[in-house]
Amino acid sequence: MDIDTTQLLRAAEAASQQAYAPYSKFAVGAAVQAADGRVFTGCNVENASYGLTNCAERSAVFAAVSAGATQLVAVAIYTPTPQPASPCGACRQVLSEFSQRMKVILGCKGDQVTEYDLADLLPHAFEF
Ligand code: THU
Repeated sequence: MDIDTTQLLRAAEAASQQAYAPYSKFAVGAAVQAADGRVFTGCNVENASYGLTNCAERSAVFAAVSAGATQLVAVAIYTPTPQPASPCGACRQVLSEFSQRMKVILGCKGDQVTEYDLADLLPHAFEF
């Protein structure tokens, strides 16, 4: 399965426009690509009870799984930062449930794009 990094990042950036982030004002978007080529997006959804906030990456994963896509090959994450920002630990664990070999593509307001293998971002992930 080919991964079009630019297209996936564009989808992540577009998803960030839907962010519900009235508290942090930090709008994040994510796009996951399934093994069958489908792309699912998500944004961060904050809550007045801050701890209930859902990150963009988990929103995208939950959208994919809800549509029956559980084999994920890549995730693109867009943050409104000058440099790419990497996903939080909780999201790394959630991503790892759906493939340790996932590509993690990070984009931002600036031109820099960084790519990682999920296994390098989260070695020794918890597994049952
Ligand atoms: N956030 C994400 O959506 N993804 C991350 O990987 C890190 C942080 C969100 C959560 C919160 O709504 C805002 O960014 C500030 O932390």
